[in-house]
Amino acid sequence: MTRTVLITGAASGIGKSTALGAARRGWAVAALDRDGAGAGLAAAGARALGARHVWWGECDVTREDQLADAFQRAGTALGPVDAVVAGAGLEISAAVSQTSLDTWHRVLEVNLTGTFLTVRTAARALQASGRAGSIVCVSSPSAFVGFAGGSNSAYGASKGGISAFVRAAALDLAPHGIRVNAVVPGATDTPMLYSGLDGDALEAERARLRSAAAQQIPLARMAEPGEIAHAAIWLLTDEASYVTGSHLTCDGGLMAKSANTF
Ligand SMILES: NC(=O)c1ccc[n+]([C@@H]2O[C@H](COP(=O)([O-])OP(=O)(O)OC[C@H]3O[C@@H](n4cnc5c(N)ncnc54)[C@H](O)[C@@H]3O)[C@@H](O)[C@H]2O)c1
Repeated sequence: MTRTVLITGAASGIGKSTALGAARRGWAVAALDRDGAGAGLAAAGARALGARHVWWGECDVTREDQLADAFQRAGTALGPVDAVVAGAGLEISAAVSQTSLDTWHRVLEVNLTGTFLTVRTAARALQASGRAGSIVCVSSPSAFVGFAGGSNSAYGASKGGISAFVRAAALDLAPHGIRVNAVVPGATDTPMLYSGLDGDALEAERARLRSAAAQQIPLARMAEPGEIAHAAIWLLTDEASYVTGSHLTCDGGLMAKSANTF
């Protein structure tokens, strides 16, 4: 079974790995990102893996006009899109009392509103063509638990919103044969974790995170983005045909663990 999959946030990290994973399966891939050049590089990577049907475009998920245009152009280039991964996202860390309204709005706009607009655009296109489909959103453990390190209120709220949205959208779209699910990645070694850092500072932060993961995560390491991509791709396949409104947690056991020892 092949799919035509459209991925937002495809220039980097989990989105890029999903694009490459889909290409390895012979699926047609539409790679979208606010970073158009990065989306183009991801598309080139997909082609290098043998994907014959690849399209890419610059698209900001907070812009409904850009999303509608991208879905339309991807469909024209590749055929109807029947699988979507809403992977675009950002994290801005600040303690709640230090979180500006601009920061709050920006995080909610990209993560939550961007996911809503992506799912709505996909749902409209699928319903217009009468096709079934599968949509995967990207939540986070911060939707379910507070991070001990704190400084996560805007991001956590955006991901909590995504998780609630996934359940509600799944119910609305089930009668149309459209499944909506979320992956819940734990700490995943992508550029998001090193935002604003480079050189020695980036390497120092990577070493710190690896050490923390070894001590705090049951599987004793961060995830590689490809491990999250595998989960997202499975949700897009017919092997997941009875899965909707669901969360697939890929966190190395993080949320299964309590810090309490008594
Ligand atoms: N890395 C982690 O530890 C982790 C954990 C849980 C959830 N997530 C989630 O996974 C998703 C992917 O993150 P990642 O870790 O691969 O990060 P990443 O920074 O590597 O990739 C995110 C991509 O989203 C794109 N993007 C940001 N704003 C956009 C916009 N407005 N329109 C279009 N594209 C936009 C960026 O350009 C980038 O290519 C995000 O939703 C993130 O919140 C990541």
